[in-house]
Formats: sequence, C-alpha cells, structure tokens
Amino acid sequence: MPSPDLETIRLQLLERVQTSETPRDILRAPEFKGLYSAIGALSPEEKGPYGKAVNELKQAVETAVEARIDELESSDVVALDVTAPWDANSTKPAFLPTNEGSQHPLTTEITTVIDIFTRMGFEAVESRQIDDDFHMFGSLNFPENHPARDGYDTFRTEEGFIPPAHTSTMQNRILQAGKEKLEAGGQIAAISYGRVFRNEDVDATHEHTFHQVEGVFVSKDATLGDMLGTLRSFFEVYYGQSLRIKTQPAYFPFVEPGLEFMIEKPAVLGGKDGEWLEMLGCGMVHPNVLKAAGIDPTAYRGFAWGMGVERLVMLKYGIEDLRHFESAKLNFLRKFA
Ligand code: DAH
Repeated sequence: MPSPDLETIRLQLLERVQTSETPRDILRAPEFKGLYSAIGALSPEEKGPYGKAVNELKQAVETAVEARIDELESSDVVALDVTAPWDANSTKPAFLPTNEGSQHPLTTEITTVIDIFTRMGFEAVESRQIDDDFHMFGSLNFPENHPARDGYDTFRTEEGFIPPAHTSTMQNRILQAGKEKLEAGGQIAAISYGRVFRNEDVDATHEHTFHQVEGVFVSKDATLGDMLGTLRSFFEVYYGQSLRIKTQPAYFPFVEPGLEFMIEKPAVLGGKDGEWLEMLGCGMVHPNVLKAAGIDPTAYRGFAWGMGVERLVMLKYGIEDLRHFESAKLNFLRKFA
C-alpha cells in the first residue's frame, strides 16, 4: 500500500508545479529523486506496491508539469486582431503618426485639374496602368512598324502588354463608350488622367513614371477654335490669371492638324517678356482614330490634347527638379502639407 508520506509529497509537488515559472526543475528536485533511493531500504514485500505508487506519482507530476508549461507559453500570446490598423498590435511607436500625413502634391493638383474640366462639362476617367498594343498605338493611327512608335520609349511585358506611355491609350475606350450619346445628338467630352511610363534615363526633366491628363471632345461641329478656347480657359483658371497663348505645328499620328500649345510664362511665376512655354500636344482627332472606334468621320469631328501634369505643377510652384515628385522626400512633401 502507498504510505501516507507519498500522498503528502504528491500534493506538495503538484502545488509547487502550479505556481512555478520553471516547472521542469521540479522533476529534478531532491524530494523527487529521493523517492527512488528509498526503495533500497524497503523489505521485498513492500518494494512492489511502493514502486508502483512512486511511478503513478511521477506520472501525475509529469502531466502537471506539461500542463503548466502550456499555460505559461500561451499566456505570452496576445490575441491578434487581423482587421485592426497596422500599428494596433505593435508595441513600437508608429513610424509616422497616421493623423499627420498629407496628400501628395500631384494628387492635389490632379484633383484641381479634374475639377476645372468637370465644371466645363467633361467627364473624368482614370487611365489604365497596363494596356495593349491596339490601345497604345493601333487605334491611334500608328501604322505597324512606323518610326513614330519609337518616340514613345515603351516598356513591354514578356507577354506583349504595355504600361502606357501616354494617356491617349484611353481615347479609343472613351470614343467607343460615347458613341451612342453622339448618335443620339449629344457630344463626347471626357478627360483621362493617370500615370504613364517611359523607358527613359532619369534627369531633372525626365522620369520613367509621370502623369498626364488627356482630353477628347467630339461633336457634329467641333472646331480648332473651340479647342483653343477650352485650353486657354483651363490654363487661366489653373494659374489664376489671364494668359497669352500661341500654337505651332507638330506631328502626332492621332491628330490632323497637330499642334503644340504654348503659354507665355507669367511674370509672377518668374517669366521674362516673350518667354514661351510648351504646355501640351493637341489637334483635331484624325479620321482614322474616329473610324477605329466606329465613329463616322464625315459626320463628326473632334479635338484632343494631352499634357504632362508634373510640368504644369512645376511651373505653378517653381519646382526645379522633376525627380522630387517620386523621391518620397519628406522635406519636399511637407511643403505641400
Ligand atoms: N500623347 C501625346 C504624348 O504623350 C500627347 C498628345 C498630343 C495627346 C496630341 C493628344 C494630342 O491627345 O492630340 O506625347
């Protein structure tokens, strides 16, 4: 029969396991080891039952030790809320306090541009960041293998997709989407804004990633004069003053005639007399571009333009280096906060 001593030892050991931070040590405690050495002093009849009782005691203590280890380990784990904001589970301070961020200047300025055009009656759609040869070139009257394609320094994926090099890549979609409205006696008036990409060496005036805003207008009787009026109004509202404008001929496969639109650099923005700045490319939509969208070029005419956003913004704020925009430098960004 197990002696009462064993029962006392058992209860003491189990109690110590419950409160120990290092429960495994109890298995090596002297009382525990002493239980076995006591066997030698017992009579042959006592040895059997005693040994059995000691083994049971040992089992009970070992089970308790394992349970205690589990308990200690699980108490270190803090329940994780996977739907929480990123820093909610972190004991470290957030890198940037989330209430101190601000919009990127390009986002703010593109919003302003969108506002001005939507008030003139243009719809605004964001341009795509991956597209195909048809939208980038084919639908815009770039013949296969035409050298004009080279001027766009396009990136291409292995599958032949193109991160668009201009927002004109949206023209065909805009025209297709507006066709019914046109046939019902209305007009197409839309802008498309977004990122564009070119395989270029980066310097103060060139970036591989920049932004454009494209505009397309189609009606029964759109004229070049309408286009110049629309663009002048835009620049005068954006820069908050009246401006002198002029154009000069330029070649783009998707317009005929094609023009470069220039403004005289305003004195308040550091312009000298007669200092002209080329702001965008524009022209009357080429008949082949209308045809590619299923619009009859003998019944409808349109004008289109495409401008670089960075250029527009650099002039407004006197920013001297295009690379600041994508640099993520906080000193630059904070000027617009
Ligand atoms: N897509 C031209 C470029 O990125 C800019 C442009 C020129 C757009 C004339 C137009 C246009 O819509 O009519 O260089």
